[in-house]
Amino acid sequence: MRVMIIGSGAREHVISKAYEKSPLVEEILVTPGNDFMIYNRDKPVAIDKNCSLNDPDSLLYLAIKYSPDLIDVAQDDAIANGAVNLLQQNGFDVFGPTQAASRIEWDKAWSREFMRRHGIPSPAYEIFNNRWQASDYVEELYRTDKSKPLYIKASGLCGGKGALLATSFKSALRAIREMSDFGKAGETFLIEEGLIGEEFSYFAVTDGTTCRFFPSSRDYKRLFINDSGPQTGGMGAISPTLITKGLEEYIEQELLQKTVDGLRQEGTPFGGILYLGGIITRDQKIKVIEYNARWGDPECQAVLPGLKTDYGEVVLASLEGRLDEIDLSFNDKVRVCVVGAVKGYPDDYSDNIGKKIFGINNARRVKGAQIFGAGMDGSFDSLTVNGGRLFSVVGEGEDIVHARKRAYEAITKIDVEKGNLQYRMDIGQKDQLLYLRTPKF
Ligand code: GLY
Repeated sequence: MRVMIIGSGAREHVISKAYEKSPLVEEILVTPGNDFMIYNRDKPVAIDKNCSLNDPDSLLYLAIKYSPDLIDVAQDDAIANGAVNLLQQNGFDVFGPTQAASRIEWDKAWSREFMRRHGIPSPAYEIFNNRWQASDYVEELYRTDKSKPLYIKASGLCGGKGALLATSFKSALRAIREMSDFGKAGETFLIEEGLIGEEFSYFAVTDGTTCRFFPSSRDYKRLFINDSGPQTGGMGAISPTLITKGLEEYIEQELLQKTVDGLRQEGTPFGGILYLGGIITRDQKIKVIEYNARWGDPECQAVLPGLKTDYGEVVLASLEGRLDEIDLSFNDKVRVCVVGAVKGYPDDYSDNIGKKIFGINNARRVKGAQIFGAGMDGSFDSLTVNGGRLFSVVGEGEDIVHARKRAYEAITKIDVEKGNLQYRMDIGQKDQLLYLRTPKF
């Protein structure tokens, strides 16, 4: 097969690796892709940047030009903009949910109502499209509890940055005002109870009826250690995470399978990768924070390299509605993904565009570490900054201690001109503590 993958980040780099391992796959095209992903490959991998993820016609143009046997629409904007539908209508075999099914991600207000209809546990919420009504509502909430945690959340897609935490009336008002910064995506917004607990991510591949599940993971959305600082697209991830141990059956059957069944019953069957972001509260209750209609970035970098089953075969089985014939198997390793970002990210980093990136090749030499490219331009030995998140370093080991050690050993070999690289030092730290405290027999 010739596979075309739509997306440009480290997630798509990892997905391309999964396809590369498949005996069914001969060549891979990633659009728009990034310069780094074409290096050190075992099979031909090309990129074509002449498209926009917000313009399905430009993706169709490339599909017609390259005539792939399979198209994997991996990126959220492309899915939300109807790329899957358009490509399918033009006769291509496409892995990814339709625009209607992916509403579960791109319309968070609708998604909460869906959960309510299907009895899927979620935080208490209200939906608003009027700033003044929302302000009155939070004023009332803070009358009884002055530091109540709330999330003010844009209903549309905001690159993972649309949920703002408020812990006072004043900060809630500011967050409500900031919804207008998200443009159309923030016209409708939710005000949700802020739950305290441990968050996790969980992924299923589905053909609309059958689900097959991946090991749990956890991402680190904030810029700084101890989950402080601004929201980002994701600064790291680990897989599997110990916090979901013993809860897998519930998450898989009562949450993910129920969601897939609900979408099918409502006439919008979901095919592709379904992502559940959940929280385990202090009283051990699980609630769904959100769904996404694709792999998480950076969770994908931590989860997918552990898959032993042929990914090409899994995807074909999903497309042909025969996932029930497939079992997924995984290696028993732990992976820690640390994201390297340019300083300034997630705010303005334009002064750092074009700065040189050093040490990638040295990092690649660390045993058990892999580097996946994102916002990097140029040739392999002359890479420069062209995006906020630059790369993901993934360390793999027999336990979290070894996986962390490898990831951090590798990333410390990398830098951006004038010390302009930033990354979190505490990815996987909590799980490491939990692991070290758990008796081993
Ligand atoms: N890891 C968060 C996301 O992919 O949206």
